[in-house]
Amino acid sequence: MNIPSHVAIIMDGNGRWAQKQNLPRIRGHEIGGERVEEIIRAASHYGVQYLTLYAFSKENWQRPAQEVSFLMDLLSHYLDHKLKKIRENNVRFNAIGKLTDLPGNIQKKIAYWIQETKNNTGLWATFAFSYSSRLEITEACQKIASEVAEGKLKPESIDEKTINAHLYTANLPDPDLLIRTSGEMRLSNFLLWQISYAELYVTEKYWPEFTQEEFAKAIEAYQKRERRFGLAAPLRKD
Ligand code: FPP
Repeated sequence: MNIPSHVAIIMDGNGRWAQKQNLPRIRGHEIGGERVEEIIRAASHYGVQYLTLYAFSKENWQRPAQEVSFLMDLLSHYLDHKLKKIRENNVRFNAIGKLTDLPGNIQKKIAYWIQETKNNTGLWATFAFSYSSRLEITEACQKIASEVAEGKLKPESIDEKTINAHLYTANLPDPDLLIRTSGEMRLSNFLLWQISYAELYVTEKYWPEFTQEEFAKAIEAYQKRERRFGLAAPLRKD
């Protein structure tokens, strides 16, 4: 059936969805939270093994304080209430990003759920919080440089595997499919190294409208793609 093993999603458009119907932006985030649950379930159902969700970027801290504070409360509520269900579904919770930027109580909850679900064998649901791909790569360079300085690593032995092993995503395979909602043709500093060969799927739907049916469409589109990983394209018959 050719199901992508790893699906990454840039969840965009909560604010615009809300504004379109004269609701406060935060209502869009609330409904967006419900979609997160629905898509985790749908991905498990399809047999996707890894789902990585861009929940909060490093740049998102620059939004109005009230919106940031609402998003942190929503996240805290999500961790308290929704993750119990996730655990029952055999989902393994994981987080990437500059987690130390988050409020202490949220950091504790994240650590708790990573620990609580670490023996689950179903979908790995990875949430990117305070995430920046450029920062991730910069930090990897710093770690590698320290190992070289300490004499643990030779510069000439550094290869792609070394870089991979020093990223936040060291335990994850590269995404096969990257979905972005709300029509924007941008990567927004998300998994820049890891998505080198991912198939891209952009939908006009805002994230609060991205239901399991929309997820199914993205999987179908992926199944029609021919992945070449840089090899020559065969001649078209037409
Ligand atoms: C994009 O909409 C979404 C975010 C900034 C955050 C993603 C958050 C959620 C999906 C809600 C809850 C998540 C968890 C994990 C509980 P936007 O505000 O950038 O929309 P806009 O581009 O229309 O302004």
